[in-house]
Amino acid sequence: MTRTRMLIDCDPGHDDAVAILYAARHLDLVGLTTCHGNNTIDNVTRNALSVLTLGGIAAPLAQGCADPLIGRTRSPADNAHGRTGLDGSDLPPPDRAPVAAHAVDFLIDMARTHRDELVLAVIGPATNVALAIRKEPRFASWLREISVMGGSAGLGNVTPVAEFNVWSDPEAAAVLFACGAPVRMAGYNVTSVTGANAADIARLLAGPRVARHTGELLSYYLRRQRERLGFDIAPLHDACAIVPYVQADLIEYRHCHVDVELNGRLTRGMTVCDLRTLTPAHREAGEARVQLAIRSEAPRLIDHVISTLLAYR
Ligand code: RIB
Ligand code: CA
Repeated sequence: MTRTRMLIDCDPGHDDAVAILYAARHLDLVGLTTCHGNNTIDNVTRNALSVLTLGGIAAPLAQGCADPLIGRTRSPADNAHGRTGLDGSDLPPPDRAPVAAHAVDFLIDMARTHRDELVLAVIGPATNVALAIRKEPRFASWLREISVMGGSAGLGNVTPVAEFNVWSDPEAAAVLFACGAPVRMAGYNVTSVTGANAADIARLLAGPRVARHTGELLSYYLRRQRERLGFDIAPLHDACAIVPYVQADLIEYRHCHVDVELNGRLTRGMTVCDLRTLTPAHREAGEARVQLAIRSEAPRLIDHVISTLLAYR
């Protein structure tokens, strides 16, 4: 079976790091782009380059936007990823620099080069992707699919109803969901219950170098999840946007219209998922272009990801 061709737009981020290492083992990872989000653009870019170096992954990386479409980046001070954005393990320093192109231009070039074959995974705020959609009107039509970790069909994690990636740049998320490309959405309601527990992390810590570093990262991330949210798992949010292209039966989806609330005093950044097609305009529009994750086979999915990380030598 031919490997899915993928580009990942990310903001490492502990779960981003796992998603990148996982994707590189199973898919044709043609590149990374970085975006503000879990930390500053400089930190998430350095983190992404260190993860590529750790995994011996040859994919090129283009650095992207430092701020959302409107306003300034708002990475919460006490966020789950620590001061550097990837605290918890002494990763190797980057063995390469970003390419000269800005992420927006890199995205457009890669979509054109790999026309009709490229899956774009967006696992941070969608600022780079929204600007690529605006700069090149054909960009969305060149993509096979956009796979988003973002939003929620239930609770949020920054406000009661807004998930961090969409909350960080709601205007960009709205542009992405309206761009016309097929979208696969893994929202917080599913990803927050799909995580590595202490036993999973112990397997990594007992493994070879890459697994051990990842185990150290997830140990930190689990501790922060416990302190901040009382979780007993380290949610691997971003891996949920990648796994379906390797094993299709680990997450269940429903077609659904998704809109992003931009103006609500209490609801800005909420993804409004019309699972029962209650909105008249959605009934008239016919089948929705978004496949919304509604549940995951979490234990099997996590075991599959852990086994992949243990396979690195
Ligand atoms: O809400 C979870 C998302 O926010 C994940 O992508 C995580 O990496 C953070 O960016
Ligand atoms: Ca992320």
